Amino acid sequence: MSSHGDPIPMISAKSGPLSGVANVPGDKSISHRSLILGAMAVGETTITGLLEGQDVLDTAKAMRAFGAEVTDHGEGKWSVHGVGVGGFAEPDQVIDCGNSGTGVRLLMGAMATCDISVTFTGDASLNKRPMARVTDPLALFGCQSVGRSGGRLPMTLVGAPEPVPARYVVPVPSAQVKSAVLLAGLNAPGQTVVIEAEATRDHTERMLAGFGAEISTEVTDEGRVITLTGQPELRPQHIDVPRDPSSAAFPVCAALIVPGSDVLVPSIGLNPTRAGLFTTLREMGADLTYENERIEGGEPVADLRARFSPDLKGITVPAERAASMIDEYPVLSVIACFASGVTDMPGVKELRVKESDRIDAMAVGLRAAGVEVEDGPDWWRVTGLGHGNVPGGALCASHLDHRIAMAFLVMGMASNAQMSVDDGGPIATSFPIFEPLMAQLGAAVSRA
Ligand code: S3P
Repeated sequence: MSSHGDPIPMISAKSGPLSGVANVPGDKSISHRSLILGAMAVGETTITGLLEGQDVLDTAKAMRAFGAEVTDHGEGKWSVHGVGVGGFAEPDQVIDCGNSGTGVRLLMGAMATCDISVTFTGDASLNKRPMARVTDPLALFGCQSVGRSGGRLPMTLVGAPEPVPARYVVPVPSAQVKSAVLLAGLNAPGQTVVIEAEATRDHTERMLAGFGAEISTEVTDEGRVITLTGQPELRPQHIDVPRDPSSAAFPVCAALIVPGSDVLVPSIGLNPTRAGLFTTLREMGADLTYENERIEGGEPVADLRARFSPDLKGITVPAERAASMIDEYPVLSVIACFASGVTDMPGVKELRVKESDRIDAMAVGLRAAGVEVEDGPDWWRVTGLGHGNVPGGALCASHLDHRIAMAFLVMGMASNAQMSVDDGGPIATSFPIFEPLMAQLGAAVSRA
């Protein structure tokens, strides 16, 4: 499946019980960061369990263009021979980040304080997404940028030849913006401070500390105040990438709505900045248990066990939980269809600027499948029909968005009529084995 190739129509239909073990791929956020931080360390970083989805492969290619030696040893094992903080070479070519907002925004941050110029582009989805949220704070370091109207890609950044450190209050809950500023701060002298009112995923902070940077987080009335001391020598690491909770969401949610299912999804990170969906599902009455809870690589990890849950109830998802489950709202909206009562999802305006406008993409498809959905600028509401009552039978547009495609395919596994998506190609960006993995559990999912 390719996000750049011809569309790949897919269908899913009412499925028998899903059962077995779902080994989902490595975490996308941590995979991007492993390659980028590995490239900024001096010496060889080794990685196991890297997500070999197109988004991460595009970041690997970019790191090579910046001068790092990146080697694929097969089966998720990679190594990165880094060039050190401030050591990036100017790429000869335009850097194409494909579908990945994380890739492009983190790379912009990483090069912003190097004396090089880089032109970035992406696919039709990425080239519509806002980049000023990153280039505005990067300007504080002395980095210049020029792009298309509205701060869109393609865009050229001229890194600061003599960077100064920055203090920045992140105006939207975004780990990508926070991370871009921190990565830029690496090559600025003195202390860079990032303040976020709402906690977002903290992989960059944890990994920077692991690579030997001096970084601290203080929780104050203003929010989380993160202070990084610039120009460290990053020490290469071995990184064992945990499995992705955002990918685990799909087999977990499918098991909850397909009668008779019992699925084990092993070794999923339950970092509180990522695990909001699982808390929400349990509040809705899901039979979802954490087995073998443990700490791995400093992160809480458990095997998730999801069983068919016929009595799901709609709830109001607390707005303050949104950042910890921001990528999971599309599949949550599917679960909400199979629950009884209303599921309210407030405080989610960031969903409108993801790979697609995710509220709109889901609302259009869910309505076509017979479900009542209301929405506003930063909220949406799904009126559940209860198990066995979801009509389905819609052809939905995935809008170059992997999570939209997977959410509708999960829906088809328990709806009364099959669901189709116009293009499952984007699934390859984050979960290349989605189709065989779901089929092996017993799902009726295939290319149309
Ligand atoms: C990510 C941050 C989030 C998330 C994305 C991955 C990251 O984006 O949606 O899939 O790895 O930092 P935002 O920073 O736009 O919230």
